[in-house]
Amino acid sequence: MPGLLLGDEAPNFEAETTQGRIRFHDFLGDSWGILFSHPRDFTPVCTTELGRAAKLAPEFQKRNVKMIALSIDSVQDHLSWCKDINAYNGEQPREALPFPIIADAKRELAVQLGMLDPDERDKDGMPLTARVVSTWHCRRPALCCGAGHAGPHKRVMPLTARVVSTWHCRRPALCCGAGHAGPHKRVMPLTARVVFVFGPDKKLKLSILYPATTGRNFDEILRVVDSLQLTAYKKVATPVDWKPGDSVMVVPTLADEEAKQLFPKGVFTKDLPSGKKYLRYTPQPE
Ligand code: BEZ
Repeated sequence: MPGLLLGDEAPNFEAETTQGRIRFHDFLGDSWGILFSHPRDFTPVCTTELGRAAKLAPEFQKRNVKMIALSIDSVQDHLSWCKDINAYNGEQPREALPFPIIADAKRELAVQLGMLDPDERDKDGMPLTARVVSTWHCRRPALCCGAGHAGPHKRVMPLTARVVSTWHCRRPALCCGAGHAGPHKRVMPLTARVVFVFGPDKKLKLSILYPATTGRNFDEILRVVDSLQLTAYKKVATPVDWKPGDSVMVVPTLADEEAKQLFPKGVFTKDLPSGKKYLRYTPQPE
């Protein structure tokens, strides 16, 4: 089954990006990393998200987190879209953001990483939006919509044989209508809004999965990075609605004696009806 689970190592894929070709492990180096996907270029929610991500880039850098986005269009589209994103931010419409955007026009990486949103198709159930259908340049008319000409015209997404034949449909009712759950030909959906955070060991520490229609909160993503780094470096957990500067929690696996030594600012336990002393707080370590 394609996709990534917590603890999995990031695949060392190669990809074209707005900052050139990368190999993912080399791109990450010894840093933390955040890979976040977008359904499509030139779409409203995505534009606001990337604008916010660009504004917060210095905050991610402070935390030693390398950022990289993915969208299922070409590098050329991404570069042109960057101008809109910068303009949306009230800045010069430059063809650059503070981080690269991966081009995944064939959705091969999106499939490998389990990033597709099976509900997100156009009103006819087709995989492409009207905008893309009307601007797609068909290089193989015989394999296309049957219009028999080579210019830009309506066509079905050029799925590679590998993608078509290996796609495993988990929701047949929303798929090609074949009505069975095995791997079969289907209309390809758009990418969902996935966030993967990788640690310096290149293992997946956190994943967030939103449908295409719900924009993410990048302040929340910074907050979870702070929590992950506190766990990695200070051996604490963060409670509900935690914000930087709030008290944190001693993890259940740490004995009281060890906790006292590890947290010189003190460990405070809340009394509970069960008599069990598991709600242990300590001021956020520096
Ligand atoms: C958007 O970014 O606005 C969007 C993209 C795909 C589906 C719905 C919304």
